[in-house]
Amino acid sequence: MYRVGKPEIDAIASVIRSGNLFRYQKTESACARFERRYAAYLDARHVLLTSSGTTALTAALVALDIGPGDEVMVPACTYMATACAVLAAGAIPVIVDVDESITMDPAALDDAVGPRTRAVIPVHMWGLPCNMNAIMRVARRRKLLVIEDACQAVGGGYHGRKLGTIGDAGAFSFNYYKNMTCGEGGAVVTRRARAAARAACMIDCCGFYWKGRQQSVHPFTSNGSRASELEGAMLNVQLDRIDAIVRGLRRHKHRVLNATAKTGLQPIPLHSPADECGAQVVYLLPTRAQADAFARQVAGTVVGKTGRHIYTEWDPIFRREGAHHPALNPYRLPQNRGCRMTYRKNMCPRSLDILHRAVMIAMHPDRKAADVDDLIAKIRAAASLAGVR
Ligand SMILES: Cc1ncc(COP(=O)(O)O)c(C=O)c1O
Repeated sequence: MYRVGKPEIDAIASVIRSGNLFRYQKTESACARFERRYAAYLDARHVLLTSSGTTALTAALVALDIGPGDEVMVPACTYMATACAVLAAGAIPVIVDVDESITMDPAALDDAVGPRTRAVIPVHMWGLPCNMNAIMRVARRRKLLVIEDACQAVGGGYHGRKLGTIGDAGAFSFNYYKNMTCGEGGAVVTRRARAAARAACMIDCCGFYWKGRQQSVHPFTSNGSRASELEGAMLNVQLDRIDAIVRGLRRHKHRVLNATAKTGLQPIPLHSPADECGAQVVYLLPTRAQADAFARQVAGTVVGKTGRHIYTEWDPIFRREGAHHPALNPYRLPQNRGCRMTYRKNMCPRSLDILHRAVMIAMHPDRKAADVDDLIAKIRAAASLAGVR
């Protein structure tokens, strides 16, 4: 979805020419500049750049003291990295149904909370905001921490606030498939100073050698996931592009939805259509067979068939292989004995039904008006072929 070109090449070339590829090599690094600018863009207090969305999620969980003995709720529809981050923090992921918005169902969350549940990760899949008002209400009542997985929702918002800034912490990915990219990268956001210090330690436990030993949080050891100046430089350029990209995606999406409103096709409910990323138009077909036929006609994708975005595809989780060594495997830790850790492929039948009837059609910001018209014509024709008219 991203745009990339000469300004990124120039920014990276200038870092290479300067010889300063390490963020602590000079006083105003490109990484620090991006963190400051992205924090201002999000209206957030602390932003920390890291190597990926997965390390951002892990740092966010550790930042909030999630660890062994804790259950963390994750939705049935997300990339496995969301659940992997929970295990990397030593906690246990518990899978919760999605609703027709293909994001976490707040009522299912409420039902699933148990005595060990400490946190929830709502995931804004394909730039579609979760029902954050309802999720935050459940979280407050049940005393859960909220970590937003905004990895697929860079630039998106929810009723005037940026996604990732509504819960206690948020995580973004800047990998090759995201609205803003530096090849691989991620960021943690939080308004809590102590959490930010812990996240910084998680990202770079050796950072105190460079930033000074007088840190507010005693350092603990972790794996390194520090970003380089090349990534920081590229992201500074990407940040200048993001609003125009998301505006373009949203404009195309609204046009497609308006033009197909009378076809009988049922779009999924949207929780903040004016603020979302607009990356995908998603329709819910009456049956799986109709979804398959419709997806073929419009070159779309059945959400349940991407091969990697629903819980049934999370192979190591089903095998309860939560670490590289049995002694470190959260599924075997005594502290986690009271956590729920039985996974079955058919444990979320409602999610499976919805996800196999949901068809998404990708938007692209550089699509010309005539191409959007062609797409609309194709969707209309496919609606009658799939028998929804
Ligand atoms: C919803 C979600 N969470 C987490 C991640 C992990 O991000 P990364 O690949 O940057 O580690 C992704 C990546 O695609 C994702 O889509």
